[in-house]
Amino acid sequence: MISIDQLLSEMTLEEKIGQLNLITVDQAVTGSVGSDDMIANIRAGRIGGVFNVWGREKITRLQKLAVEETRLGLPLLFGMDVLHGQQTIFPVPLAEASAFDADLWERTARAAACEAAADGIDLTFAPMLDVARDPRWGRMVESPGEDPRVGAAFAAAKVRGFQSARLSARDAIGATAKHFCAYGAALAGRDYAAADVSDRALHEIYLPPFHAALREGCVAVMAAYPSVAGIPMAANRELLNGYLRQKLGFAGVIMSDYGAVAELIQHGVAGDIVEAAALALTAGVDMDMVSGAYVSALPEALARGLVEERQIDEAARRVLRLKRDLGLLDDPFRRVAVADAPLERFKGLALDAARRSITLLTNSGVLPLSAGVRRIALIGPLADAAGEMQGPWSLAASGESNVSIREGLAAALPDCEIVFSPGVEIEGEDADGIEEACRRCAGADLILLCLGESGRMSGEAASRAAPVLPGRQAALARAVLALGPPVVVVLFSGRPLALPWLFESAQAVVAAWFPGSMAGTAIADILTGRFNPSARLPVTWPREIGQIPIFYAERPSGRPAEPENLFTSKYLDVTNEPQFPFGHGLSYGAVELTHLRASAETFTIERELTLAVEIDATNRGGRAIEAPLFLFIHDVVASVARPLIELKTWRKARLEAGETQTIVFSLSLEDFSFPGPRLTPCCEPGVFEILVGESADRRRLLSIFVQAKQPDAPRSTS
Ligand code: IFM
Repeated sequence: MISIDQLLSEMTLEEKIGQLNLITVDQAVTGSVGSDDMIANIRAGRIGGVFNVWGREKITRLQKLAVEETRLGLPLLFGMDVLHGQQTIFPVPLAEASAFDADLWERTARAAACEAAADGIDLTFAPMLDVARDPRWGRMVESPGEDPRVGAAFAAAKVRGFQSARLSARDAIGATAKHFCAYGAALAGRDYAAADVSDRALHEIYLPPFHAALREGCVAVMAAYPSVAGIPMAANRELLNGYLRQKLGFAGVIMSDYGAVAELIQHGVAGDIVEAAALALTAGVDMDMVSGAYVSALPEALARGLVEERQIDEAARRVLRLKRDLGLLDDPFRRVAVADAPLERFKGLALDAARRSITLLTNSGVLPLSAGVRRIALIGPLADAAGEMQGPWSLAASGESNVSIREGLAAALPDCEIVFSPGVEIEGEDADGIEEACRRCAGADLILLCLGESGRMSGEAASRAAPVLPGRQAALARAVLALGPPVVVVLFSGRPLALPWLFESAQAVVAAWFPGSMAGTAIADILTGRFNPSARLPVTWPREIGQIPIFYAERPSGRPAEPENLFTSKYLDVTNEPQFPFGHGLSYGAVELTHLRASAETFTIERELTLAVEIDATNRGGRAIEAPLFLFIHDVVASVARPLIELKTWRKARLEAGETQTIVFSLSLEDFSFPGPRLTPCCEPGVFEILVGESADRRRLLSIFVQAKQPDAPRSTS
């Protein structure tokens, strides 16, 4: 096969810049798939990749233009946002994170890759790895939540799943770690707004998931939209070229986000499109997504001396290497040639993933449903809304075969009478249906109220200043709650919703997030107890909007909150306590934890350190249970104030009724380290508190102390 250097030496400047041009097409366009202009550009070698177009026929047609009608026959790269499934839709990432199950995260990515590859996709713009601590931000739904360790484990699992053991395999697709970085810190949760974060916050919070993705061999990175400390990420030389490439040695492709190169002008760091293109290229952005800045302006940037041709060559080399590694230079049609995976193939996995992601938030004992429940009033705009079950970013799936709650419930409870009324629409001010919904509740043994957001209310450009129930749903809920029969709420959302009154008055609340294709079956399994809920919150759930941003790993205050002392860190009007802490989630039954212990009370700070921590877990309930147990550390005195607790690892306890097991955690030096005063990892001698339990609620954690000491100084031999 011809070498990349040989190829580059045969390419014109225009062809090299063409490789850096990533464009999209309107999927609705029929016939030629794209405008005449676009086809002419492909033929001229001015396009390197196309995204968010899928399907064998369309991709084959475009690829043929590239390989058969361009001078060098270089294949296009096909990208797509495959965030949580292609045809079969798995729970949204925030929901899947609730499973705390790296094996599941990998298996769903593998399945998504198989279906996406059969649709002709070579590269996904996933996983999304932005640590998200502000539920106003709509993109929290795409993220693994608030914790860097969870983000890192999620990153590694997803990259393994998408890329599999061999990137050029016909059912493997490249992964893109996005959005690098700190997008989750966008000001006030407003999408695209600036992220003014410290270097320490970058190293402690926002970078670890990206490290994990790159360690796993992730082949691409997407630069985020916002500016970080004043430098827009598409022009952030220090973080892209400096940190990613030079410090971490990342040799893959860096792409901009949609239109972000041209947006450098609006950011106020480029005077015109030529400067914008030059800033992005010299910062390390190889592919320009959609803005056309590279194609239109890099030649002029070269002429003005703002870029060097070797920088264009380097970027083109990285794109060509990616195409080679994906196997496209050998066989440009390798993925579309795969037979379609039958749609049924991954339904079982989708059901498993959904069941493991649905979180039981409150339960007065009404769940699981008892045999005495013969008539259910199924109320709410999301009760029979199969299409909404997918949530955002499920571009290719029609949603036709999704299971709605109404269908799932009817199948699970054939002897139960189910009466249905939507009551109100998801959004909108019409409340006329509330009366009818209340009438339908007459004689019900139980009211199942399906409320929440629509899929389009989270995701990109879906920030909400008030993450609560939209439209007239609160009025519907209050009317139904006043009727008398027990009310179980199934809440759909891409973020926690601040609804203290609902949690106080409903008999049970289940966070379903957006569970995907098998939503109705999975929810029915949870409600009936066919599946014992095991999901736990990957984000802190606020009680009040004013508490946002809220997360468990806060640094201490010099004046921690004291009820009787005004001059302490608290609000006058609301408590500091969240509605539910990180890690919260109920099962049917309870686990008792006792005897927390460590293999040593003192350890020496050395690279090979392993410290075993054990706890006994007993299932006090009457059925088998699966419960993640979390291990947190608090570095009591350090040169930098450490968070009150930080998650280091977790283990799943899988216990039969009445069974006791010893759960073992293994800690390494990294777990006791933090970015030191110069931001390099360090472990300082002193006391560490180790805490284990079922959530980040400190009051309910068991804790012990261990002591770290410096290695003995080497003895003098003289
Ligand atoms: O991949 C996405 C990104 O997450 C947000 N902007 C658009 C891109 C392409 O669809």
